[in-house]
Amino acid sequence: MKLKNDLLLRALRKEKVERPPVWMMRQAGRYLPDYMKLKAKYDFFTRIQTPELACEITLQPVEQVGVDAAIIFSDILVIPQAMGLKVLMEEGKGPLLPKVIQDKNDVDSLLTENVEEQLKYVTDALSLTKSELNDRVPLIGFAGAPWTILCYMVEGKGSKTWEKAKQFCFTQPGLAHELLQKITDVTIKYLRAQAKAGADVLQVFDSWSGMLSPGDFKIFAQPYLIQIADALHATVPVILFPKGSWYALKELSNSNASGLGIDWCISPQYARELIGNKITLQGNFDPAKLLLPVHEIKGAVNEMINAFGAQNYIANLGHGITPNVPVENARAFVEAVKEYNQ
Ligand code: CP3
Repeated sequence: MKLKNDLLLRALRKEKVERPPVWMMRQAGRYLPDYMKLKAKYDFFTRIQTPELACEITLQPVEQVGVDAAIIFSDILVIPQAMGLKVLMEEGKGPLLPKVIQDKNDVDSLLTENVEEQLKYVTDALSLTKSELNDRVPLIGFAGAPWTILCYMVEGKGSKTWEKAKQFCFTQPGLAHELLQKITDVTIKYLRAQAKAGADVLQVFDSWSGMLSPGDFKIFAQPYLIQIADALHATVPVILFPKGSWYALKELSNSNASGLGIDWCISPQYARELIGNKITLQGNFDPAKLLLPVHEIKGAVNEMINAFGAQNYIANLGHGITPNVPVENARAFVEAVKEYNQ
């Protein structure tokens, strides 16, 4: 079935579009009052593991904010869970993994089989959402990048420095590569299952890649991002989001990814200078700018689109939307992209 709005897919294929597509990372979440109502009733993993709830939450920003794509409501930490680690989501504190990965025994004991069965609730949520969307807009599936998943597996929680994760990689590089490869193998199987269940596009979130130096990114992050793009690009377009790793854009633009996400620490002009129009760029509105008065958002959005150019471009934030953004401001961001005239 042809999608009624396929702007995102056309932009990823580098076809001409009448205006850039727009969606927002973390668009299904706490800034939406209807999300908060479901959050008050059901805990985090119930919301994720119940296809009807995940579907309802996924559709909220499509129907209430008007974005050009849906992203399935789930989390990157379902992969450590499926590999046998306990993951808790603590209110106000974020994720907590009580048992972390430290040595070879820990790596060896991680499960890599039956991922698709373990994460069937995600593929069920995707199939249901695909059908409820009724081809209005494309559906995005996602996973965390191996380096970012390693960060949580080794640290057990969020960190400002990720020094334990780095220490693990720097002092036991052989073991780190074993772990990264295990995560990569599982992630590829998981993303394949997502595409089969109805995901039209896949995004890989490397949220903490920018914590690595350019040299270490090349060792511990890039090869695994490339493996994932290589394995999936023939099935569905892949967007890589190596947050903060502007230094890797040129090399990643030669990969099999169709899109590259950037944050606001690099100017659109410089990103284009590095990669030209070789690959579609996505980003990079500072989410804090959504807190500007509504009437000032449009100007900032126009400036951003002018800097990227309206073709080979997906309008998005440079990272996830934050909980205190008023819904009307999120809507103003989306409207400004829709009203953009080249
Ligand atoms: O984008 C979407 O709308 C889809 C949903 C989505 C969630 N997490 C739901 C969620 C996506 C794409 C993610 C990805 C994710 N999860 C990332 C990568 C993207 C990024 O922001 O860097 C990371 C690092 C995580 C891990 C994670 N999950 C953290 C650090 C936290 C707590 C911090 C926070 O934002 O609250 C979560 C919990 C989480 N995942 C929430 C949501 C809506 C908030 C908890 C809640 O609403 O109960």
